[in-house]
Amino acid sequence: MKLVSKMICSAVLFVGAASAASAKTCDLSIEGSDAMQFNKKELDGTGCTEVKLTLKHSGKLPKAAMGHNWILSATADKAKIVDAGTKAGPANGYTPTAPAIIARTKLLGGGESETITFKTDKMKKGGDYVFFCTFPGHVSMMSGKFKF
Ligand code: CO
Repeated sequence: MKLVSKMICSAVLFVGAASAASAKTCDLSIEGSDAMQFNKKELDGTGCTEVKLTLKHSGKLPKAAMGHNWILSATADKAKIVDAGTKAGPANGYTPTAPAIIARTKLLGGGESETITFKTDKMKKGGDYVFFCTFPGHVSMMSGKFKF
């Protein structure tokens, strides 16, 4: 009897520890430059239940000439989101609101930065995810893998 209650007690402790460990906010950051490039080709969100992502435009050019945003989606949705970005036009910072987008920043110009926070509960572990910029013409240079 004594042993059983001891076992129940440690089982409760274990469950408590597991749920505390499963919530994890990760700080990730990336920069976009005047050379139309991100400074990272890959970001790792493995095990993160929430991501705090900072995009910084490290250059000096205005956003009308060299704007950068950061958009996260499944790789399969990338092409249609890039299309939607072009159609969104300069008034919307070439940043679409397509439902397939998992997370996005606004369009930034030189010297600007933005931090966004998003939950990863709809993402699949080991899934194929990509981040990219939807300013017209940038996607071929500004694209990277988001590990999850
Ligand atoms: Co860009």
